[in-house]
Parts: sequence; structure tokens; C-alpha cells
Amino acid sequence: CQMVEPQDIVEEDDIAPSAPSPSSAASSSLPRQRVSLQKSSVCSRSYFMVVMVFFHVYIINVIALLLYVHYNNSSSTIPANQDFTSRDHSHKVSGASDGHSGPADSGFSRNVNLPRIEGIRSFCLWVAAEIPDFLSEEECEVVVRLARLKGLMESQVMIPEGQEELDQQLNLSPEEIFNFLDLNQDGQLQPHEILTHSRVRDGIWLTSENLKEIYDGLKVDLDGNGLLSLEEFGQLKSDSFQRFLLKRGVERSQLVRNSRHTWLYQGHGAHRVLQDLRKRVTRLTRLPPSLVELSEPLQVVRYEEGGHYHAHHDSGPVYPETTCTHTRLAANSTSPFQTSCRYITVLFYLNDVEEGGETTFPVADNRTYEEASLIQNDVDLLDTRKHCDKGNLRVKPVKGMAVFWYNYLSDGRGWVGEQDEFSLHGGCVVTRGTKWVANNWINVDPDYQRQARYQQLVSQQDAQEQEELSSDQHEEKHQEL
Ligand code: OGA
Ligand code: CA
Ligand code: FE2
Repeated sequence: CQMVEPQDIVEEDDIAPSAPSPSSAASSSLPRQRVSLQKSSVCSRSYFMVVMVFFHVYIINVIALLLYVHYNNSSSTIPANQDFTSRDHSHKVSGASDGHSGPADSGFSRNVNLPRIEGIRSFCLWVAAEIPDFLSEEECEVVVRLARLKGLMESQVMIPEGQEELDQQLNLSPEEIFNFLDLNQDGQLQPHEILTHSRVRDGIWLTSENLKEIYDGLKVDLDGNGLLSLEEFGQLKSDSFQRFLLKRGVERSQLVRNSRHTWLYQGHGAHRVLQDLRKRVTRLTRLPPSLVELSEPLQVVRYEEGGHYHAHHDSGPVYPETTCTHTRLAANSTSPFQTSCRYITVLFYLNDVEEGGETTFPVADNRTYEEASLIQNDVDLLDTRKHCDKGNLRVKPVKGMAVFWYNYLSDGRGWVGEQDEFSLHGGCVVTRGTKWVANNWINVDPDYQRQARYQQLVSQQDAQEQEELSSDQHEEKHQEL
């Protein structure tokens, strides 16, 4: 706050036309002085008040932040390996009161809190990154050998059919689609507006260069200004771009993912290294072992030179009608929206890559996440073949190292919440050599009741199998006798 000097006021007064009157000379100087005195005293007091208010707000904010961090990460009170398949009838929490769906009488009590490990590299994205020597060199080699033995398949197969069907289901007019795509509502579709919503279709990755080529090939941009009007857009079919590219021939480098992979079972009877790895993942994530054990098998991925994986989320957003693939047996209804509900990704590097092949997190640490701002001035931050260097966080593969992150936020009550958009990541193009990685995904249903029901079902099934097994053995013994 700047002090107001008396002359400032005089100058202001000088501007105002003042009619000369007999008393004006004497009376005009008094109010001027009073005003100046009032202003300066009010100013200094208000200055003090403002500073004090800011100071207090600042202190309160700091305390609130500390409390938030403390309660959000406090894991000391959380049993690290609590199993929650057991039903607790004595302390039922109804589905409504804990915010999770499910009738109260079939509800599972919330007797578990999923601990979250604080990240070390990033704020928005809690990346507990770069745990060196998570696997020994020999273990890495064993995993690679087992994957080779099993055989790897292309990570992505092209399925050009089916899109038309989806569009029919959507039943949208060209105007409706145009308005949806026209982010800035200027009546024209800029290339980035097209790419934001349609850069991935049938697994083909569209770039701005592709788009120019398509406009030329289909002669759709009649005035050649690089923009599409509603009229120009209306001439296109929903799959025109894809059809054009497929006709011209699509190379693997134009796909979203250019790699091969296989799945390795990690349960009882699996190779010791694989079982050990899972135990280590349980300790690392501090999650209940039952959750880790019921998750997907280990995915082992091989990128050849030139291989890549454009930025993506390992798991989708969760809407009320979304169901998780792993708990679909426990879902009460079938849903058209299904996602893999991969709460955590633990990524292992199984070799040192000669050049390239980093894992990139393009928007980690950003203050806000805006889908539309991922493409700016022809730079698509999601493109890991071209723009890996522009991402916020990049992890270089080191043999034996593990990286892990959460794909979902906490719901603030110890369970899985919304998708964490900042967990967007991809594999940069391998410019020299090959790259081997493995993914351990920990599946957790954001609907606690569904996860608990699913685990209950699995444990019942296990018990039944065990019973059958023992009765078989019993029968065998009888026969032997
Ligand atoms: C994945 C993945 C990143 C990498 O397989 O889902 O994101 O660096 N991999 O290979
Ligand atoms: Ca526009
Ligand atoms: Fe991924």
C-alpha cells in the first residue's frame, strides 16, 4: 500500500472545476488536509490488517496442508497386509453411508484402507519412481527367457471393422459431431480439434501430417485453408480418415502401440522368480496380498528398434455405470462401459536400452489437465515418436529398475477414487537396440462393495475346489484300499 501524499490530493482537486466563492479559499484547504490525514492513517492500519490476515491465512493453509498430507499418507495405522475377504457382520456400514453402492444387508464393512506411498519425483502424479535393483540381473534374464519360451504376440492387431456399428449406436448427426469437435466454437475445425478427439481410431495414430495428406487425398478441404467447415465436414463419413489410411497402407509405426507381449502367471506353481516378484510388489505397494494375488498376470513386453507406445492411461475413467473387467462376475448388471481398473502400475525394466525407449509422463506435475491443450502448434505431447523430449517427466530404462505410479486418486476415505489424469504416460521410440519391460498391474474396483463381493466369490470357489480335491483324494484312497 502506497502512502498518499498531500500534493497528490491537491492535484486531483485542481482538476475539478471549482467555482470561486468568498469562503472557498479558507474552506477548501481544510477538507483537503483532513482527507490526506485520514487516508494515510487508514492506509497504514489497513495495511497492517491486510498483512495480518494474509499471514494468518498462510499459517492456516500450511497447517491444513500438513494435516492433509499426514492423513492422506498415514500408513502407520493401516495394517499392511490386511485381508478383507472376510465378512464382518458386527460393524456393517451401509452402502449409502460410505458412498459405495450395494444394499445395506449384503454390504461389506469398510475395514480396510489402501495405503498410498508418497512420490518422490512429482507432485500431481505420485510417482514413487526409480527403485533401482528391484530385480537382479539374473531375475531380469529369467523373466525374459520365460517370456520368449511362452512366445510373444503383437500387442496390437488392426480391427478396421466395427466402427460403423458404433456410430449407428451413437446416432449423431454431422452437426452434432461437428459442434462436439469444434472446441473453440468458431464454426471451423482446426487440425488440433480433429486430432484431440480422433487421433486414435481403430488403433491407428493420426498426426497432423496424416491429416494434411488425407485432406488432399479426399479433396475435402475445398478452399485449402487447412480448416474444415461444417459443409466440408458433412461430406465425410465417420470412418473416412481410417479407410483412406488403410487403403494407402498402414505401417506398424503408425499404430498406437508397436510392440509384442505375453502374459506370465505368477501364482502357485509358477517359476520362483515370478512368485518372488509378486511378493516384492505386495511389500512395495503395501496393499493387502489378496488384492495383488487376484490381479492380472505379469505382462512382458518387447519393443524392437523403432518400437513405441504413444501416451495413454493404463486404465479408464470410472463413471457410475462403469464396471471393472476383473470384478465383472460380481457385478449386478452388465454395462457397456468396462475398464481394467488398474489402480497401480509397477513397471520393470528388464534390460538396458541402447538409445531411446524412455517412459514419458507428458503432463506429470502440470497444474491443470486439459485435453485440448495437449496439442499446441502442431506439437502433440502424446506422440512418443516425435515429442518425448517435451514431456515433463522421463524415466530412462535401467535393467532391474522398477517404476510405479497410481492410475487413480484416493477417494479420501482409504479407497480408490477417480482416475488420475496426470498418470498419462507412454514409451518413447526405441532408437537403437531393443527394450524389454514388464508390467504388474494391481486391479482394484473403485466400488468397494463389488471388490469385496468378488473376493468373497473367489474364496468360496477356492474352498469348493479344495473340497472337491480332497474328496477326490479320499475316493482314490478308498479305491486303493
Ligand atoms: C505399458 C507402458 C511404458 C514403457 O506397457 O502400458 O506404458 O516404457 N509402457 O514401455
Ligand atoms: Ca474450431
Ligand atoms: Fe502403460
